[in-house]
Amino acid sequence: MIILAVETSCDETSIAVLENKKVLSNITISQIWEQQKYGGIVPDLAAKLHLENMQEVLKKALAKAQIEQEKIDYIAYTEKPGLVICLQIGKVIAETLALYLNKPLIPCNHLEGHIYASLLENTEEWKFPVLALVISGGHTQLYYLKKHLDFELLGQTLDDAVGECLDKVSLLLGYTYPGGPVIEKLALRGKNTYPLPLTKLDDTFDFSFSGLKTAVRRIIERKKFENNLTQLNINDLAYSLQHTLAKILTFKIKKFLNENKINTVVLGGGVIANKYLTDYIQKFLQDKNIKLFLPQRKYCTDNAAMIGILAYYKLMKTSKNFSF
Ligand code: KG4
Ligand code: ZN
Repeated sequence: MIILAVETSCDETSIAVLENKKVLSNITISQIWEQQKYGGIVPDLAAKLHLENMQEVLKKALAKAQIEQEKIDYIAYTEKPGLVICLQIGKVIAETLALYLNKPLIPCNHLEGHIYASLLENTEEWKFPVLALVISGGHTQLYYLKKHLDFELLGQTLDDAVGECLDKVSLLLGYTYPGGPVIEKLALRGKNTYPLPLTKLDDTFDFSFSGLKTAVRRIIERKKFENNLTQLNINDLAYSLQHTLAKILTFKIKKFLNENKINTVVLGGGVIANKYLTDYIQKFLQDKNIKLFLPQRKYCTDNAAMIGILAYYKLMKTSKNFSF
């Protein structure tokens, strides 16, 4: 089964071709260099760049996959969530391809794609029940899955997403968008010296990160006010932030495990590229007989291969010859 997948929900124009679970090509043009000038994503600019980059991405994805167009069986695309104008471009491209090739369309959810990314190029399968955490630039959500594609939302952020928090702190420190990689790099030379609030450690599975972001902002602004910015140890501040985020996320995972039997924990989303965070969670899960599934680093941030693998599992679920 050959699936061509299109992802345009934010600032990456991406097309992948999959043969079942195997990635034949996954071509992405990121707009980060253009969007950095504005300190975040400008939707109109994102749409314009998707249109400019789409032809090149499509041509390269087909060429790399070495597949004739007639061999494509399905066209998958990101339906939601994302920037509406960008999603519409992906949809029109996917619809046009589906019409031209006379193949069925498979609309996919971007966040579910992040979760399924851990099954890309992986011979192992999840063992259910599964607890899945998505942490990206726009979302922080915890799901329970009794079986494939059966998503039960347990909780989500009530304000900022984890990635958003990192992106904003990076800007406050005078660095660029995206902030996650900046904070990770600074933290490599830091220690946990700034006491930051462990926000929303309550009885729910919801999250809240705006208070944490404000606490970091206050520390930076106080030093600015005192004209003492050189005394701010930004490496320590980055480390302390990363450490606090890891603690909050692990608290919610732990809370769920205390109350429920889980065989697999799955992580997904751009922030999962952060090694400190994944090592922290991995360490917590050690000796608990729970397997942790992570996407390969190249499949953490937005890409079309994750939409392709999600489409594959959707098709498998409806296939008579497959039992999950
Ligand atoms: O999933 P993604 O590519 O886009 C959305 O769906 O939002 O996630 C982007 C987010 C950004 O907030 C970015 O700062 C964060 O992922 N990110 C990271 C790292 N690489 C990207 N956060 C922490 N550490 C990283 N290495
Ligand atoms: Zn994403």
